Amino acid sequence: MVGMSPESVATESTVEVLTVEPTRRQPTLAEDVAAGFRRQPKSLPPKYFYDERGSALFDRICDTPEYYQTRTEDGLLSDCAEAVLQRARPDHVIELGSGTSRKTRRLLDACQRLGVAPRYWPFDVCREVVEQAGAELMAAYPWLGVTGLVGDYHAGLDALPAPPGRRLYVFLGGTLGNFPASESIAFLRELRGCMGDDDALLLGVDRVKPAGVLEAAYDDAAGITAAFNLNLLSVLNRELQADFPLESFSHRAVYNGTDAQIEMYLEARRDLQVRIDALNEVHTFHAGERMLTEISRKFTPRSIEHELAAAGFGVETAFEPADGYFSLVLARPRG
Ligand code: SAH
Ligand code: TRP
Repeated sequence: MVGMSPESVATESTVEVLTVEPTRRQPTLAEDVAAGFRRQPKSLPPKYFYDERGSALFDRICDTPEYYQTRTEDGLLSDCAEAVLQRARPDHVIELGSGTSRKTRRLLDACQRLGVAPRYWPFDVCREVVEQAGAELMAAYPWLGVTGLVGDYHAGLDALPAPPGRRLYVFLGGTLGNFPASESIAFLRELRGCMGDDDALLLGVDRVKPAGVLEAAYDDAAGITAAFNLNLLSVLNRELQADFPLESFSHRAVYNGTDAQIEMYLEARRDLQVRIDALNEVHTFHAGERMLTEISRKFTPRSIEHELAAAGFGVETAFEPADGYFSLVLARPRG
C-alpha cells in the first residue's frame, strides 16, 4: 500500500491473519468468466467486484444518500447490540464478509459498555481490507484480540476455525441476499454445520420496499455504484488480459418484483467485440445487451424465517426499524 505511515505499518504487523483453506475446489476467474459468458444473458459472479479498488468503492457506496441500508443497519445495531450480546454471550465473534467492519463497531461498543471482551475474527476474501480493519479496530479497542481470516466462503466452511467457547457468527450488509435462494440455503446449512448448540447467528437482511427506493439505492446520483459495477470490467482486463472498453458499458439497476430482487447489469452502449486473451476467446455484445453482475434479494419477515428454517435455524428475536426497511435476526441452530 502506498503512503502508509510508519505507525500504521507497526500496527498492521500486529494483526494475526490466517488463510482459510478451501475445502472444495472453486472455479478460477477464467473458468467463471468462460461459463458465465456462455449463459444467456451473460453473467459474472459478484465476488470479483472486491479487489482493493472495489472494496474502497463499496465503502463509498455505503455513504451515498440513496443507500439507506448501511445507515439503517448501523442504527439498528446500535439499538440492539446489548440485547444481542446478552442473549448470545459470545466468547468469539466471527464475521463473514466483514469488509471494513465499520458496523461491527456498534457491537464492540456494546461489549465495552457491558465489560465483556470476546475475540473478533473478521473473515473476508480481500486480504488488504482484513489487515487494515483489524489494525484499526485494535487501535480503537485496546482490549480487543483480533484474528483475521482470509478466504472464500463459497469454498466451504470446514476449515473455518472453531475456537472453544460460545461463538456468535455475524453476517451483515444484506450479503445473504446476493446469493440466489438455493445457494443461500446451502450456505446457511453449511454454517449451521459449524455451529454448536449454544452458538448464535446474527443476520442482517434488506427488506422488500417500493421499487423507486430500491433502484435509487443501487444507482446513486454521484455514480459510485456505476463505478463499482464497471470496476468488474477493469478486473477482467487486468487479470485475464481482456480489452473491455469501460466507456462503452452503462450501469443498470432494475427491481424485479416477481423475484423480489434488485438485478444489476452492465449494458453495452453499442455493438462491440471483446477479446479475452487468457481464454483465447472473442465475445460479441449487441447494443443494449445486458450482462448480469449481481442480484440483491429483498426479504419479508416470513421469507427470512422460511429460508432460515430450511437451513436448520429458528429465529430467536428479530429487530427492525420503525419503517421496516431492514431486519437484524438473531437465529439459533435447531434440533
Ligand atoms: N459486511 C460489510 C461488507 C459487505 S460487502 C458491510 O455490511 O458493509 C460484502 C463483503 O463480502 C466484501 O467485503 C467482500 O470482500 C466480501 N466477500 C465477497 N465475496 C466473498 C467470498 N466469496 N468470500 C469471502 N468474502 C467475500
Ligand atoms: N450486500 C450489498 C447489497 O446487496 C452489496 C451491494 C450494495 C452491491 N450495493 C451494491 C453490490 C452495488 C453490487 C453493486 O446491497
